[in-house]
Amino acid sequence: MNFAEFYQRSIDTPEQFWRDEATLIDWNIPHTQVLDYSRPPFAKWFVGGRTNLCHNAVDRWCATQGDKAALIAISTETNTEKTYSFNELQSEVERCAAIMLALGVGRGDRVLIYMPMIAEAAFAMLACARIGAIHSVVFGGFAANSLASRIDDAKPALIVSADAGSRNGKAIPYKHLLDAAIELSNAKPAKVLLVDRGLAPMALVAGRDVDYATLRAVHLDARVPVTWLESNEASYILYTSGTTGKPKGVQRDVGGYAVALASSMKYNFCAKAGETFFATSDIGWVVGHSYIVYGPLIAGMASIMYEGLPVCPDAGIWWSIVEKYKVTRMFSAPTAIRVLRKQPPEFMRKYDLSSLRALYLAGEPLDETTSQWIAGELGVPIIDNYWQTETGWPILSIAKGVEDRPTRLGSPGVAMYGYKVKLLNESTGEECGANEKGVLVIDGPLPPGCMQTVYGDDRRFVDTYWSTFAGRQVYSTFDWGVRDADGYYFILGRTDDVINVAGHRLGTREIEESISSHANVSEVAVVGVEDKLKGQVAIAFAIVKHAEQIATAEGRQALEREIMGVVDRQLGAVARPARVYFVPQLPKTRSGKLLRRSIQAICEGRNPGDLTAIEDPASLQQIKSALQV
Ligand code: PRX
Repeated sequence: MNFAEFYQRSIDTPEQFWRDEATLIDWNIPHTQVLDYSRPPFAKWFVGGRTNLCHNAVDRWCATQGDKAALIAISTETNTEKTYSFNELQSEVERCAAIMLALGVGRGDRVLIYMPMIAEAAFAMLACARIGAIHSVVFGGFAANSLASRIDDAKPALIVSADAGSRNGKAIPYKHLLDAAIELSNAKPAKVLLVDRGLAPMALVAGRDVDYATLRAVHLDARVPVTWLESNEASYILYTSGTTGKPKGVQRDVGGYAVALASSMKYNFCAKAGETFFATSDIGWVVGHSYIVYGPLIAGMASIMYEGLPVCPDAGIWWSIVEKYKVTRMFSAPTAIRVLRKQPPEFMRKYDLSSLRALYLAGEPLDETTSQWIAGELGVPIIDNYWQTETGWPILSIAKGVEDRPTRLGSPGVAMYGYKVKLLNESTGEECGANEKGVLVIDGPLPPGCMQTVYGDDRRFVDTYWSTFAGRQVYSTFDWGVRDADGYYFILGRTDDVINVAGHRLGTREIEESISSHANVSEVAVVGVEDKLKGQVAIAFAIVKHAEQIATAEGRQALEREIMGVVDRQLGAVARPARVYFVPQLPKTRSGKLLRRSIQAICEGRNPGDLTAIEDPASLQQIKSALQV
């Protein structure tokens, strides 16, 4: 098939295109209308159709390949490895669904899942999908305050969690963070379901906390039929960072998401039922939702869920998994590959990787060195793909399942089917020509699978994403990009205050708010600074209230550690700034706006740009001096 024609059909006749795609999944009742776009920018796909994500991911395959592997849970942290066939997965999901029902969870209720990378996390997600509850998975690396703000927004009826995660062989207790978060929040869940891995002691709160294993035994033989949901009911909420300190709940539907995943598995990931998919992400991120849990299973593939580091017990671990489970498609992030590149190549050369057909990388810019290195080592195509939590599946890539077009170094590829991608000039809003830098936007309606709205806040959805350009309603990705004459895009970084640390999306405002809560900080600016390994790291510049504490080098170091500790406790170690510098003032405009981009430029040794509006040019020199100390 010719990709250009395929793409054009998706743009010219979207309803026909997606009507055909909808046949990739099972429906209990077919839709009456492919698309309802009567209230832009809110798009409703497959209106009137009834389906279920869990049915399509699990039950559907029990009929034809029930004994084949579905979920392969591997932990090098606890040295455990277990394969669940589709039949076994179905039983575990039904047990979990029965527990949820018994705990009073109903259709449309929210269930917050705060879990490490263990099989029960996937059971819980699929169980929610089965009974029509809306899951909200919170990354296990987030701490009490991050968790509390999500509890307050989602108001979950139930929280599912565990005693601990584990990193590098060390238990990372969760329960005290969870208790602290519930204490901080206004919306207390009625019940907390806890998986006890035996990694850390955990005190149960009487009347609220219940044990997973005990209840599982009670519901061992439970049969819980699928609840058929209207295509546009909500399937899940996933919080993501933006410009403000308050994360946005990206809300997704049921039918559109299932169809988008089935299509992307076919055209982007060349899925074949019975083969094995290995995404190294975490269920706390969108890649984990789309391509650890739902996507591969919807395509009838076995999916590997891996808890552990890429270099433990040694740097060959992922490749040993590829060999053992004959992984055909692997999905990771550039940072992980850069980490592996620092290791001796023998580790990966030890294994038979002949099953592997392609490596997909996403989440952050893929630099040419990393791309070429891993391509040389693996001898398979390296396929960059660019997308967002908001879209749920790739916006830009090369769809090898449609046509085997070449990739281009430094470019994630061309616009994917269904996405009307454009670049607009930031000041004029005019469309950019070839090789002109602009803001990457998408004309509505967004294709199936993309966010429906911001949970509980339609206004915020419109104001945040669709109002960047006056008089023109387009979805802004908040990324800069350029397109070459052949339609290949290149991503040049964010237009807003979002940073990307090792593929993890973080808001600088959230980190600033956390640092500001330290008693000796009066003001702070956080910027993302280029880093060879992680892509970017957060660097903080703080003004202290009491200068005595920073009079000596020891004092400065102690305060820096304290501030990092505050971020660790409130947001989690993922958000911890790499350095905290102390300055007498911060560069601002005369109207008081922080000049984050100028600070970032100085940190990266670039020209700070247009400074006509700066209040005190000496503030930039102070940033430079702080960096030199
Ligand atoms: O800035 C872009 C960057 O990550 C952002 C989205 O992050 P998140 O919501 O966590 O979703 C990740 C889904 C893969 C984007 O706005 N980004 C993502 N993929 C790429 C990328 N930047 C460059 N190249 C990519 N392939």
